[in-house]
Amino acid sequence: MGKNVIVSNRLPIQITKVENSFKFSATSGGLATGLHSVHQHKNSLWVGWPGIGSDEMETSAWEPLKESLEKNRYAPVSLTTKEVDEFYYGLPNKCLWPLFHYFIEYSIFNKSHWDTYVEINRKFSNEVIALLEPGDTVWVQDYQLMLCPQMIKEACPGVTIGFFLHIPFPSFEIFRIFPWREALLKGVLGSDLIGFHTYDYERHFISSVKRILRLNVSFNRVSVGSREVVVDTFPMGIDYEKFESAASAHLQHGDTEKSELKNQLEVHKKSSENSKLILSIDRLDYTKGVVNRMKAFDLFLSKYPEYLEKIRLVMLTVPSRANVPDYKKLKKETDEIVGRINGKYATVNWTPIWYYYRSMAFDDLIDLYMTSDIAMITPVRDGMNLVAKEFVATRVNGDGVLILSEMAGASKELHEAVLVNPFDRNAMADAIKDAITMPQAEQKMRNKEMQKRLRRYTVNYWAKEFMTSLGRVTEEKEQGLVTEFASSVTEAVTHQFHKAKHRLLLLDYDGTLVRFNENPELAIPDQELLLLLKQLTKLPNTDVAIVSGRDQKFLMKWFGALPIILVAEHGYYVRPKNKEWEAKAKRQNKWMEDLNPIFDAFTDRTPGTHIEYKQNSLVWHYRKADPELAAGRVVELKTVLSSLISDKLSVMDMDKALEVVEHQINKGSAVMNLVDSAKHDFIFCAGDDVTDENMFTNLPDSAITVKVGRKLTEAKYYTDGIESILSILSQFITR
Ligand code: UDP
Ligand code: G6P
Repeated sequence: MGKNVIVSNRLPIQITKVENSFKFSATSGGLATGLHSVHQHKNSLWVGWPGIGSDEMETSAWEPLKESLEKNRYAPVSLTTKEVDEFYYGLPNKCLWPLFHYFIEYSIFNKSHWDTYVEINRKFSNEVIALLEPGDTVWVQDYQLMLCPQMIKEACPGVTIGFFLHIPFPSFEIFRIFPWREALLKGVLGSDLIGFHTYDYERHFISSVKRILRLNVSFNRVSVGSREVVVDTFPMGIDYEKFESAASAHLQHGDTEKSELKNQLEVHKKSSENSKLILSIDRLDYTKGVVNRMKAFDLFLSKYPEYLEKIRLVMLTVPSRANVPDYKKLKKETDEIVGRINGKYATVNWTPIWYYYRSMAFDDLIDLYMTSDIAMITPVRDGMNLVAKEFVATRVNGDGVLILSEMAGASKELHEAVLVNPFDRNAMADAIKDAITMPQAEQKMRNKEMQKRLRRYTVNYWAKEFMTSLGRVTEEKEQGLVTEFASSVTEAVTHQFHKAKHRLLLLDYDGTLVRFNENPELAIPDQELLLLLKQLTKLPNTDVAIVSGRDQKFLMKWFGALPIILVAEHGYYVRPKNKEWEAKAKRQNKWMEDLNPIFDAFTDRTPGTHIEYKQNSLVWHYRKADPELAAGRVVELKTVLSSLISDKLSVMDMDKALEVVEHQINKGSAVMNLVDSAKHDFIFCAGDDVTDENMFTNLPDSAITVKVGRKLTEAKYYTDGIESILSILSQFITR
């Protein structure tokens, strides 16, 4: 079994310089605390930045530090202070973080930040690539490294790559603002599996992929060239056992074992009857809603003065990204508001807000969680929020109330919390009142439900689910894998071609010989293709056929002059070599007249769609329509059609089009009329869509069938794109 390589911007351990020596400490934030448990497995290797500029220390100091990190299976990526400034304090935290949290006005779009982002993502990718061995799996984390999946995949196409976004993925209307949106999406799509905390983020991502990259998505699977990328929801949990058992141990602590903090908290609790503590813990970040929370607390005190001197807000804000101006501004604003509220209400015995601006050791955190009566976790936007889950896990006696923002990913799981809109201060003030007065029995009932879920869906469960899905994706890839038409195959097939006495080449047109165009009339053959076809027809004993869904007029316009077989409208009409067109079935166009009004109605209601009238089929094209609207309309139109059409007709799902044709007609039966089994000892057939599958299944076993794109197919081989088909055909004309 290969190793799992976790890749994140930061390692969970960070090095800081303290006078002349170096100190190791734990990194704060959900990603580091969450994945820390996952890294306990011996086959895990974690690649990331150790939190210090490489130029902040002598090389002689670096080596032993590196060694001790490596002992814990951490592979440090060394970044200079300049690189950190331009990368960490650039695109990720001045642009992606605010944008993805809907703080558009905080997002700075700076080309040199983007260039550095590409450069540092390349640096991380190269570190990973150098460490990879066959069978390894790579798991890239978060918004700082969104280009790594593609970079790693390009260098090592065989490696399985997962990506997890720990922050929200915004709606398309927000994401589309990002100037390098295509590159970012393509970067992530280098993965085989992409995970999000909630279904909302997943659907926002899929929506952007469809609208911006115009890729085909079927449910949660995105077709990226010849690959299929799975997108799914995996809500991250916590190390429940760790928090629960620490809480149980703290419960047993005698007076002498209690920390200074614990004693202080207890003094407050005993200061008056009914006194209560409200806890808030977050990194000092504008997404965490600290300002709104304090203002709501202010409103609560003025609205419900009976609680003055009884309720205290204990606010732990952990320093974060302090070099970013918006964070500096927030620090200043927070200090001021704390000062104002304390100045407004404080008495000799009581200050309403206890404010800590630092991080706390694990045991202190546990004391905070356990001693508080209420946790007020009200981010204005948050990918998940583990603090909320940790609070619930430490309530071993079952009491305590969680006030949780609807805007936190965690709210999708913790339904029993008191859910609030963090922008509605009045409702938040009332929620505090409700929490204070909530009967113990109700508190216990709510916590029990939440604990049940958190105990089951732990961080290990989360990681296991992700890795199992990643494994499944790999298995599917291997099982459904038809052989790639690699260079060795080309060689063998070319050899067979030249040895054969009589050859038949069956070529689909759109998506096989030419690329799709939003306007089908513009998807025309270039001179190179026309020359290639001409040269093929000049080879002795070689029949070339274009087997297309296009109509006769189009095929005649471009290929009429060539001595090739033309098959139009999926086999309805055939023009044998150097002969006239023949109709292969009787025209029965009454059904087209009947269906026309329905097609018209759908076209009117769906901007960007149009109808193509072929001699014997109706096609509803939706390539230019909004992909999500179109997806809904396709289902609707299919339902309407299925209730109307007779069993003589069938509805075919084409690439961004729906076509109604007569049953008897399909490319499979058409090509079988062209095959002369006594004569043809070499048959080559290439196609890209569902209508070409009929050819692949009908042809004799000896035929060489090739699918363009790695989709589910009956063909024997696949290729990545039309270039490969053209290159195979070129091999046939060069000896
Ligand atoms: N945390 C910490 N030190 C502190 C305060 C909090 O390590 O002084 C941890 C906390 O236990 C939680 C994480 O930081 O696991 C915060 O994760 P969350 O998902 O709530 O927010 P994020 O910081 O990732 O946005
Ligand atoms: C969030 C992000 C993480 C990040 C953490 C701490 O949890 O999702 O990627 O590591 O905040 O932020 P920092 O900038 O200190 O790494």
